Amino acid sequence: MSKNSTYLLAIESSCDDTAAAILHNDTVLSNVVAGQEVHKKYGGVVPELASRAHQQHIVPVVHEALRTAGIDKNQLSAIAFTSGPGLMGSLLVGTSFAKSLAMGLNIPLIDVNHMQAHILAHFIAEEGYGKPTFPFLALTISGGHTQIVKVTGYFEMEILGQTLDDAVGEAFDKSAKILGLPYPGGPLIDKYAALGNPKAFKFTKPKVGGLDFSFSGLKTAILYFYQAEIKKDPDFVSKNRNDICASIQYTIIQILMDKLRIAVKQTGIKQVAIGGGVSANSGIRKALQDAEQKLGWETFVPKLEYTTDNAAMVGIVGYLKFNESGFNQKGYTENNTVAKARLSL
Ligand code: KG4
Ligand code: ZN
Repeated sequence: MSKNSTYLLAIESSCDDTAAAILHNDTVLSNVVAGQEVHKKYGGVVPELASRAHQQHIVPVVHEALRTAGIDKNQLSAIAFTSGPGLMGSLLVGTSFAKSLAMGLNIPLIDVNHMQAHILAHFIAEEGYGKPTFPFLALTISGGHTQIVKVTGYFEMEILGQTLDDAVGEAFDKSAKILGLPYPGGPLIDKYAALGNPKAFKFTKPKVGGLDFSFSGLKTAILYFYQAEIKKDPDFVSKNRNDICASIQYTIIQILMDKLRIAVKQTGIKQVAIGGGVSANSGIRKALQDAEQKLGWETFVPKLEYTTDNAAMVGIVGYLKFNESGFNQKGYTENNTVAKARLSL
C-alpha cells in the first residue's frame, strides 16, 4: 500500500453525535454527522438513549460518508475509531462497528483518543487554514473537557492544566438551562451574546491556582443571580436575555484567556490552537484575534465543521498514526497502538 494514497474511514460515537468521515491522506472527502434530537427534552445527554440512537444511525451515516466521498468500502486502507474518552455505551457502538468492518475487510483498525483528535484536527489539509508547528499550546474546550495542552509532536502532548470540576461547555449549557434555553445552550448563548452588552452584569471569576480551571462556582453564581433578579421582576430574563448571555460569555472567555496568557508566559510558546465544541464560540475566536494583534500570538482556529464532534478529526489522527507511528513503514511494534488494536480483533 502506498504511503501517499491512504483511504481511511473514521468513526466517532463518543457522546451524542454519530459521525463518519472519509479521508484521502490528510484531505477530507466527506464528513457526515447525525445529531440526536432525543436529548433536547431532558436538558442534557441521556447515555442509554444516546447508545440506542447511535445504533440506529451508524449504518446510514457510514453509507452516506462512503457515498459522498465516491469511495467503495473495498478501497479503504484502514478504519479509525474513537476509543475514548466518552460514554461507555456510545463508544461501544462505534467500536464494535469499526472492529467488525475492519475484520470483514481485513484492514487495520486504529484507535483514536477523542481529545487528541480535537487537537490534531488542525492538521487536516484545508484551504485557507494554516497548520501549527511544534511546539504549540492547545486549548481544548468542549462539553466534557477544558485543558491547556503543550503539544511537542503529533503524539507528544502534556496537559499543563485542566478543569477541576465542570467543563467550559457545561458552564455554557448549565447557564443556558438556568435561563430556560434548550440543550445544548452554548450556541444560543453565543447567538444572544452578539446582541448584548458584555459588561451589563458582573460575575466573579474563580480563584484557581496554576493553569487549572473551575467553572462550578460560576454556575452557582449565575443561579443565585437569576433567583435574586426574578424575585424582583419575574420577566427579568426575557427583558435582559441578550445582556445576560453577553455577560456570561464575557466572563467565561476572560477565564479562558487569563489562563492562556499565563501558559504563554510560562512556556514562551506563542502559537495557540483551540479545539473542541466551544471553539465554535465567536467570543473566543474574537479574543484570539485580539491576542494576535496585541500580544503577537499566532492563533489557530479550526474550520467550524471540525470544532464540534466529528469524524474527520478522528480520521486525521488515524492517518497520522497510520503513516507516522510506524505501522505503514515499520510494521508492528510493541508501542504501536495501530498494531495493538489490530491484534485485539
Ligand atoms: O466537542 P463537543 O461537540 O462535544 C464534546 O466532546 O463535549 O462540544 C459540545 C459543547 C457543548 O457544551 C456545546 O454547548 C458547546 O460545545 N458549544 C458552544 C458553541 N457551539 C458548541 N459553546 C459556546 N458557543 C458556541 N458557539
Ligand atoms: Zn468533543
